[in-house]
Amino acid sequence: MNLLNDKKLLITGVLTDDSIAFSVAKLAIEEGADVILTGAGRALSLTQRTAKKLPIVPEVYELDVTKPEQAFELSSIIEQKWGRLDGVLHAIGFAPQNCLGDGVLKAVWDEVSTALEISTYSYKLLAEAFLSLLQKSDSGSLVGLDFDASAAWPTYDWMGVAKAGLESLNRYLAKDLGKFNIRVNLVAAGPIKTVAAKSIPQFGQFEDAWAARSPLKWSTTDHEAVAKACIMFFSDYLPLTTGEILHVDGGFHAVSA
Ligand SMILES: NC(=O)c1ccc[n+]([C@@H]2O[C@H](COP(=O)([O-])OP(=O)(O)OC[C@H]3O[C@@H](n4cnc5c(N)ncnc54)[C@H](O)[C@@H]3O)[C@@H](O)[C@H]2O)c1
Repeated sequence: MNLLNDKKLLITGVLTDDSIAFSVAKLAIEEGADVILTGAGRALSLTQRTAKKLPIVPEVYELDVTKPEQAFELSSIIEQKWGRLDGVLHAIGFAPQNCLGDGVLKAVWDEVSTALEISTYSYKLLAEAFLSLLQKSDSGSLVGLDFDASAAWPTYDWMGVAKAGLESLNRYLAKDLGKFNIRVNLVAAGPIKTVAAKSIPQFGQFEDAWAARSPLKWSTTDHEAVAKACIMFFSDYLPLTTGEILHVDGGFHAVSA
């Protein structure tokens, strides 16, 4: 089965082979897509090394979302290379340490603004920078990775606020990009052990909660279900779905204690 034959995808957020985006890139390549990766700042060389573990080694370009000019430069490069994009994955999140673990009162605006710029506003940056390329697709698809923001979690604090903003932005981007036949959707994943997850204090609390409550058995080391959902959004199988948040969390969001 080749769900993504001839699709051209830009995948952000591959840091290590534990990154959720790594699994998306791997599955996308296996499903026939051509893929370009991006890496940020000092982590770029790590992304380049990780890219070599994929079945076909993709090109890697620098894209730090705090430097918007890099996104527009990359758009010009892809314009020359492919002339279009069929999909973009936003797999980017970061919050300074004070934004996590100690309640929302401690962090100051500089720290909060960094979290919101990198984790929320950057979704709009990708939409804006790659709009002209996605418009040239028969069915452009912007996909982001979310952590359910409908309630307050322990320790997640300002990242939770950033994700709530991402969920709202997802709806507004869907509203604004629908006229270009571009779909905009989020996959709300359950907890998965990645570098980003390690920065969340007491991540074990999430693992314990999922072990106790998730209707379907959840594994914090299995990225495949989340990757498959992203592939569905990049495929032609959900042509009239936009502004959606698809929970891939074992059903955790649907139940309470
Ligand atoms: N791991 C989980 O439990 C979980 C659950 C739900 C959602 N998510 C989301 O999945 C996405 C990917 O995270 P992950 O868990 O795979 O961890 P990860 O650490 O592998 O990926 C995070 C990525 O964000 C990138 N990034 C950070 N600052 C950046 C910047 N300024 N510019 C560009 N990129 C930058 C990093 O380079 C890295 O590739 C994030 O949005 C995260 O919030 C993760």
